[in-house]
Amino acid sequence: MIPIKTPEEVLLLRESCSLAVKALAYAKTLLTPGTSTEAINNKLHTFILDHHATPSPLNYHGYPKSICTSRNHVICHGIPNESDILTNGDIINIDVTVYKNGFHGDTSATFLIGEVSPRVRELVQVALDSLSLGLKEIRPGAHLGNIGASIEKKAHEHGFSVVHEYCGHGIGRNFHEDPQVLHFGKRNTGTVLKAGMTFTVEPMINLGQRHCKLLPDDWTVITSDGLPSAQFEHTIVVTPKGYEILTEWPSDLLNL
Ligand code: MF3
Ligand code: CO
Ligand code: CO
Repeated sequence: MIPIKTPEEVLLLRESCSLAVKALAYAKTLLTPGTSTEAINNKLHTFILDHHATPSPLNYHGYPKSICTSRNHVICHGIPNESDILTNGDIINIDVTVYKNGFHGDTSATFLIGEVSPRVRELVQVALDSLSLGLKEIRPGAHLGNIGASIEKKAHEHGFSVVHEYCGHGIGRNFHEDPQVLHFGKRNTGTVLKAGMTFTVEPMINLGQRHCKLLPDDWTVITSDGLPSAQFEHTIVVTPKGYEILTEWPSDLLNL
């Protein structure tokens, strides 16, 4: 069952989403070589509480931290750690979800740390472009599968691959709810979209093979081949004319 949100509910969701964006913009200011992901987590934790919200990941199915920090070959759900240190040439995805007024807002972006190699920069750019192309498919009456088809096409055109095991998700009163939003697949398959649906699109694009491994901590997902992976995430609402990004970033957020 896919919940359809009322305009009042979308208003509350928009507020949670805009706080998630503010937190992500704050995170960006902390990304200097030598900083640990633990330090970023701790500052974001305080920032979120100071804004009368709570970090959705903390204690979610036992997740131990307040944000996810996924560096280089970590695909998603990287756990902040004091020995995980930002280094020149890295890429890092910061994934922020906040809970406020009964609604979760979820957004993430991949940032460059110093001088990043051209092929890895291309990976990050294509991850971003694939998200934009996927979003453009969203309108009432369109099939959910069009989003993934568009994302996959873009990734493959550049010789990259799409992670299959993790997907976007409905969001609202629950952190993760129906529908599941695959980042690959066939056009004109899957659920038909309706105005008032709210979900994330969050493609994970790998430089090498699509396959992943779960680390023994039961959270950290890495590429099987050890090559980098990049991801961007927006929360959207399906509108009568198409869609609205509820986690719109400031124009200077990214450093591509
Ligand atoms: N924010 C992630 C997402 O985009 C989910 C993180 S779940 C956690 O869906 F428990 F790892 F935080
Ligand atoms: Co997220
Ligand atoms: Co998400």
